[in-house]
Amino acid sequence: MRAWEIRERFGLDALTLVERKDPVPGPGQVVVRVRAASLNYRDLLTVQGSYNPRQPLPLVPLSDGAGEVESVGPGVARVKAGDRVAGVFAQRWIGGRPTPEVRRSTLGGPLDGLLAERALLDAEGVVALPEHLSFEEAACLPCAAVTAWSALVEHGGLTAGETLLVLGTGGVALFALQFGRLLGARVIVTSSSDAKLERARALGATDVVNYRTTPDWDKAVKEMTGGLGADHVLEVGGAGTLAKSLRAVRMGGQVSLVGNLAGLDAQLNLGLVFMQGVRVQGVFVGSRATFEAMNRAIALHRLRPVVDRVFALDEAREALQHLASQQHFGKIVVRVA
Ligand SMILES: NC(=O)c1ccc[n+]([C@@H]2O[C@H](COP(=O)([O-])OP(=O)(O)OC[C@H]3O[C@@H](n4cnc5c(N)ncnc54)[C@H](OP(=O)(O)O)[C@@H]3O)[C@@H](O)[C@H]2O)c1
Repeated sequence: MRAWEIRERFGLDALTLVERKDPVPGPGQVVVRVRAASLNYRDLLTVQGSYNPRQPLPLVPLSDGAGEVESVGPGVARVKAGDRVAGVFAQRWIGGRPTPEVRRSTLGGPLDGLLAERALLDAEGVVALPEHLSFEEAACLPCAAVTAWSALVEHGGLTAGETLLVLGTGGVALFALQFGRLLGARVIVTSSSDAKLERARALGATDVVNYRTTPDWDKAVKEMTGGLGADHVLEVGGAGTLAKSLRAVRMGGQVSLVGNLAGLDAQLNLGLVFMQGVRVQGVFVGSRATFEAMNRAIALHRLRPVVDRVFALDEAREALQHLASQQHFGKIVVRVA
């Protein structure tokens, strides 16, 4: 089979398309014929070597993908050949709270990922796809969508009539926008691009702010909410945006700390947290149970992921470059077969 490998060293230029032996499922395992994979910011960091510089190589990158079960190993009854499935981001996270063991079982590092024609997965580490989704759409779900669902629903309890602030228009952000609307929330979206903000409006954003032309976007959000602030902030910027997110959230609200697009090490006035009684909730993707709960909602509401662009398998480097350029709106997909 064909597979992309981070081979002897990290770096986008060193990513190599190789021939690998087809995997054979052992007890409790399945082989998935991958039809599509999708990109997350983490995959870019992994290829560049900054996500985990101690990651043993070679590694097949990309945590997210969807396809059909091709064969199952001894003792597997949970799924069968022909089932349409996606891999669970952390193969051994079935439900409950995460553990170090869960973190050691994530696809696309440390375990081989989905940027290959076939993937060897745990039979317990796959979920059925919502029927109305294509493989390309379903490939977008495992990391970005589950993270947004965990933040808003599991940790946040977002409900109708509340206000959600979403930073940017990347993969996690647009799922948060879609889920926010599905839950009946008012959704404010920020972006560096007016054109993207128009597209966010078309997806249901009720209010928009350009964070380039309005650097005090926290104040703009306060004004939009009658001086109160947003009930929930989906925070993907990290160090560069957290202080403003804490100014844009209401007293007693929640900031879901998801990403670090604008840096990892923050210096912060902690009064912004305790004097306002804000809950700062770290979010680490989510379990299989969360993925399945989200899929029920996606199927019921026939929600479709926003696919920015689909690349061919031999264009994986270009796909990662496109992610790095931040020109995208939503998810970038690689069609595998
Ligand atoms: N904790 C977890 O479990 C988890 C799971 C998934 C992702 N993440 C993290 O979440 C972040 C987003 O991931 P992703 O895959 O959705 O990324 P992505 O698709 O690459 O998002 C890129 C977009 O984010 C926006 N952005 C960048 N810098 C920003 C800033 N300073 N302020 C506001 N928006 C900014 C930009 O939107 P505009 O172009 O509209 O300006 C950019 O196009 C990453 O840090 C990722 O590592 C964490």
